[in-house]
Amino acid sequence: MSLILFDESATLAFGHSLAALVRPGDVITLSGTLGAGKTTLARGLLAALGLEGEAPSPTFAIVQSYAPPEVRLPVAHIDLYRIDDPAEAEEFGLDDLRFDHLLLVEWPERLGAQAWHDALRLTIAPMAGGGRRLTAEVPPSWEARWPPA
Ligand SMILES: Nc1ncnc2c1ncn2[C@@H]1O[C@H](COP(=O)(O)OP(=O)(O)O)[C@@H](O)[C@H]1O
Ligand SMILES: [Mg+2]
Repeated sequence: MSLILFDESATLAFGHSLAALVRPGDVITLSGTLGAGKTTLARGLLAALGLEGEAPSPTFAIVQSYAPPEVRLPVAHIDLYRIDDPAEAEEFGLDDLRFDHLLLVEWPERLGAQAWHDALRLTIAPMAGGGRRLTAEVPPSWEARWPPA
């Protein structure tokens, strides 16, 4: 499934629309080149979950977590861009975080192809002339929830 996000506000709005669907234990991966709009989409989702103010990019922290009451459910926003080897990610305890958090993962490719086989996989690609194409790979655990309204 794919759709066009014409501008930044459309990316934020798509992130918003996911807020009604998510629950702890979900993993949403965000793929795309630098500047594609991964963090923008995550910001839209976090805002719709109640976060006030703009979520920082987790590029340097790598894991940025949020807990109620600032958001409706626990969320870990993760940017694996600076991870060179999957073993480096072990210290972050992502599998444990998953028990009670929604995981939003930028640069999931850094952990190799086998990570999170049941994730909702979103890919954002810049289009000529601006705008973005968003492609979703929807796993069985998301089929009954898909597409967002
Ligand atoms: N649908 C869109 N069309 C055009 N520009 C967009 C769109 N979505 C986001 N952007 C812009 O693209 C940039 C994306 O930055 P960011 O979300 O930090 O990217 P990433 O996390 O993928 O590196 C921002 O400047 C944002 O305003
Ligand atoms: Mg980013």
